[in-house]
Amino acid sequence: RSAIYVGMLLLSNIPLLYAQSQSAIEPASAQARGISYIWWSMFWVAVAVFIAVMLILAWGLWRGKADKPTHLSYLASRNLVIVAGVAVPLITVICLVGGSLFLGRTLSEKPPADALEIRITGWMWWWQIEYLDENSNTIATTANELHVPVNKPIQLYLESGDVIHSFWVPQLHGKTDLIPGRTNSSWFEVDVSGTFRGQCAEFCGLQHALMGFLVVSEPQAEFDAWLANQQTPSSAPSTSETTAGQRVFFEAGCQHCHTIKGTDATGTAGPDLTHLASRQSIASVTRQNSRAHLGGWVADPNGIKPGAKMPMSQLEPEELSNLLDYLQSLN
Ligand code: CUA
Repeated sequence: RSAIYVGMLLLSNIPLLYAQSQSAIEPASAQARGISYIWWSMFWVAVAVFIAVMLILAWGLWRGKADKPTHLSYLASRNLVIVAGVAVPLITVICLVGGSLFLGRTLSEKPPADALEIRITGWMWWWQIEYLDENSNTIATTANELHVPVNKPIQLYLESGDVIHSFWVPQLHGKTDLIPGRTNSSWFEVDVSGTFRGQCAEFCGLQHALMGFLVVSEPQAEFDAWLANQQTPSSAPSTSETTAGQRVFFEAGCQHCHTIKGTDATGTAGPDLTHLASRQSIASVTRQNSRAHLGGWVADPNGIKPGAKMPMSQLEPEELSNLLDYLQSLN
């Protein structure tokens, strides 16, 4: 079975770095801990029920073999049905449902007032991430890589630009749908620094399975520096290659879909590229953000993600090289 699994991973050609654990039972936030607590409670109750049923079954089989089977009296068998058949299952189910409803209530409570507000918009098939100020104005825009400070409540506003998606980081919280025409909210607070993989959890089309993202939690000072950098426009090209690369960017029409702050590129159909080089991955965590993968993506996006809206480019090798120099200078 593991050979088949490894084979599938190789066939799907996803770098193993990004096949990281997405485990709901390795929680890194109070919210996910609550969910994993419910999960383990259900698991151990199920184990206890399974063992009890198996023991009774074994006892029944053993008794059936005895030469002279004894029968329970009418009263004893009636009580057995009432207690074991009705009361015990009912009490068990009520406790589990009650615990689950109580947790649901706790999770849907409002976050503390000092929460950091972030708007996330799902698109086929990537994530737009906007950091908001007190007046809900966007101060920085990025894609597919959500940075958050540790030990700080994070308030998410979840929206969709096209179809229904679902935001899910198993180690941080449960799923919340992103529905066109409405704003859902969710909040969490991460305990530790680290990188957590998230995944779209609602089937949304051809590339649903490759609609991943990363959540990077870091100490407040590091986060502040990161956010300050994301807020600045990209620096102007400083070498002849990057200058030529920027020209290729505009000649190829990339600005119609992408924004690069500090330039005339203000398209909104695709991810904001202002600080592209500061991200770990491209194409929604499908590939590492390396020159080779970026080149492959620019040359033939549909070769990596069939159905992606970004068109194939027809660039000369030198043009592509210059463009990559320019894109890699956006950090
Ligand atoms: Cu977006 Cu599935």
